[in-house]
Amino acid sequence: MNQVITHPPGSLELISGDFKGKDILSLDQFSAADLYRVFALAREMKELVLASQPSQLLAGQLVALLFYEPSSRTFGSFAAAVKRLGGQTLDIQNPEVVSSVWKGESFEDTISVFGAYTQAIVLRHPLPGAAQRAAEVANVPVINAGDGNNEHPTQTLLDLFTIYEQFGRLDHLKGLLAGDPLNSRTLHSLIRGLALFEGNTVYLLSPEALRLTRDDLLALRSRGIEIVEIHSEREIPTDCHFWYWTRIQKERLSSLDEYQQLAAASFQVTPALLAERANREMILMDPLPRVGTIDPAVDSDERAVYLRSQIRNGLYTRMALLALILGKA
Ligand code: CP
Repeated sequence: MNQVITHPPGSLELISGDFKGKDILSLDQFSAADLYRVFALAREMKELVLASQPSQLLAGQLVALLFYEPSSRTFGSFAAAVKRLGGQTLDIQNPEVVSSVWKGESFEDTISVFGAYTQAIVLRHPLPGAAQRAAEVANVPVINAGDGNNEHPTQTLLDLFTIYEQFGRLDHLKGLLAGDPLNSRTLHSLIRGLALFEGNTVYLLSPEALRLTRDDLLALRSRGIEIVEIHSEREIPTDCHFWYWTRIQKERLSSLDEYQQLAAASFQVTPALLAERANREMILMDPLPRVGTIDPAVDSDERAVYLRSQIRNGLYTRMALLALILGKA
């Protein structure tokens, strides 16, 4: 299956320095300058949170968190982000069960309804393109919180912010992206983001069946990012700046058998692998949940940021993004 690497011309509104009222559907809407704007504000949000400083920036704002798929981090950090800034959330998890979707209400009608009550909709959905469809019918901004195996743009904001905070730049970096390039929406958005900066190289390590499609590989390479597919841990360059490990996306596969075969062929970070192929300055990232990706014995390594800064940066970047979209910053 081809991923949604390109969009129909004109179907995505570029940020172009102005976030107010915009939908956030894809990394393709961002320029490098737009990302730096989010990061600058995320740093302010970080200071605010670390100082336990109350904020009323989003006072009077109500944001719908409409999640058709389970989530810990994205749901939790968006909810925390709104509340930290003095706003409120309308939480709808599993709308198939707890809303009139259960009675057969269409997706479009559900979006229109929650758009009528709120100032923005944060949407997670199992179907690629669902966020774009929601944006077509909603009268408020829609933020894509992950649409099937397509994209997860706000995850990339926090991932790039984490890398930027560590290295002070987003260009001329080498990254190892392991796990499930075919189905991982976090990887699809991250590669797009890294392609906005000069001189970046990523190495993709996965079982053969989970490689990017050839069309997508070529489309992404045409953006100027160097993408090298590797086949074993022995090929991991020892000078990578970051490793980014993703789980096999069980929910995108057709059977448990298929998942078990792929899981058996997948790669895992262990203390031994770190000792053999990683340098002292790199960071180890994982969008989580951690399912077969990283041995917990690695957690105490100072390079492991997945349960530390990477998690916390999800809060700061989402606070920044909400403030910008709602016209409060
Ligand atoms: N990284 C991420 O999207 O995690 P959740 O599925 O828990 O939101």
